[in-house]
Amino acid sequence: MLDWSDTTTIPRPPEALVPNPDSVIEKIGRDLIDRSGGRVSIDDKAMINCRADVNQLLPLKYKWAWEKYLSGCNNHWMPTEVSMQADIALWKSRDGLTEDERRAIKRNLGFFAASESLVANNIVLAIYRHLTNPECRQYLLRQSFEEAVHTHTFQYIVESLGLDEGELFNMYREVPSITDKAAWALEHTRHLDDPGFKTGTPESDQAFLRDLVAFYVIFEGMWFYTGFAQILSLGRRNKMVGIAEQYQYILRDESVHLNFGIDVINQIKIENPHLWTQPFQQEIRAMIATAAELEASYGRDTMPRGFLGLNAALCETYMHFIANRRCAQLGLARVFDEAENPFPWMSEAVDLKKEKNFFETRVIEYQNGGALGWE
Ligand SMILES: [Fe+2]
Ligand SMILES: [Fe+2]
Repeated sequence: MLDWSDTTTIPRPPEALVPNPDSVIEKIGRDLIDRSGGRVSIDDKAMINCRADVNQLLPLKYKWAWEKYLSGCNNHWMPTEVSMQADIALWKSRDGLTEDERRAIKRNLGFFAASESLVANNIVLAIYRHLTNPECRQYLLRQSFEEAVHTHTFQYIVESLGLDEGELFNMYREVPSITDKAAWALEHTRHLDDPGFKTGTPESDQAFLRDLVAFYVIFEGMWFYTGFAQILSLGRRNKMVGIAEQYQYILRDESVHLNFGIDVINQIKIENPHLWTQPFQQEIRAMIATAAELEASYGRDTMPRGFLGLNAALCETYMHFIANRRCAQLGLARVFDEAENPFPWMSEAVDLKKEKNFFETRVIEYQNGGALGWE
């Protein structure tokens, strides 16, 4: 256990390291701090275009953001804690997997390998800068780390199975159905790369909302879900159970990412109703519909013939079901005819606590941080 009772005298630092309040550098530092700004109250805080000091986390205004930060911490996991032995044996065996299954697995891994980095870069290079609330930023810092863990997962899978790393990590540039999705997402967020981009006008605030929809709702909330369904469907048939277990952990993280993104968008709408115009709502619905179509062509490319329990048509129906659900979460009219969920087991997979022995593999309980020892 931690021991806070240490009363040892702290040695004095050498003369050169003692702060000198009259030094020029320290004076400049003090000038950078707004000392007349006053303490932040809840009413000063806002999601975007906020002038209140972003260094004052408390008092919390958006409790949902803080709760998601805590859930993220409680869900901590590392890919290397999952055994890959069964997957390695199956991947190396001559007839354990069909050619169609191998193709789907490789393309699935290729899509995720680059996508996790695209999402992480978008958080730290675009979203973080423009979301002007400290509790949301606290969650973004946690989410960025989780995206790094997800990227690590694909490195670990490539290494374990002895896959061609160049082939996998370049699929987003070399396989057209994957390139189409990455290019679409980058197109919707292109102007945010401009270091001069600022929110603060209706046009630029809408551009920021478009970025949030493209990444949180579409990338993480739609495309990732068909990717999870592919691998978890194989896992249900006892194939690639190590990867399937890792995907369950990723899915648990991603469901929090998605819900955070939906809450952020809905809160920005509440605070800035002038942005959520009818034409803009139509535009967002069109983005969601196009994204579902791109996913359907990716499904046809990755599963030209399909295999037991999974084929491109089922994935397309699932995408329609998910697209309608995302519209409902954003308060938008649905974009496709009512669709039945062809993978009802996916909603159970999201709740890992309930389904933790799904594949009867090792499960680690992370919610016991108090048991750390330092001796
Ligand atoms: Fe991720
Ligand atoms: Fe994510």
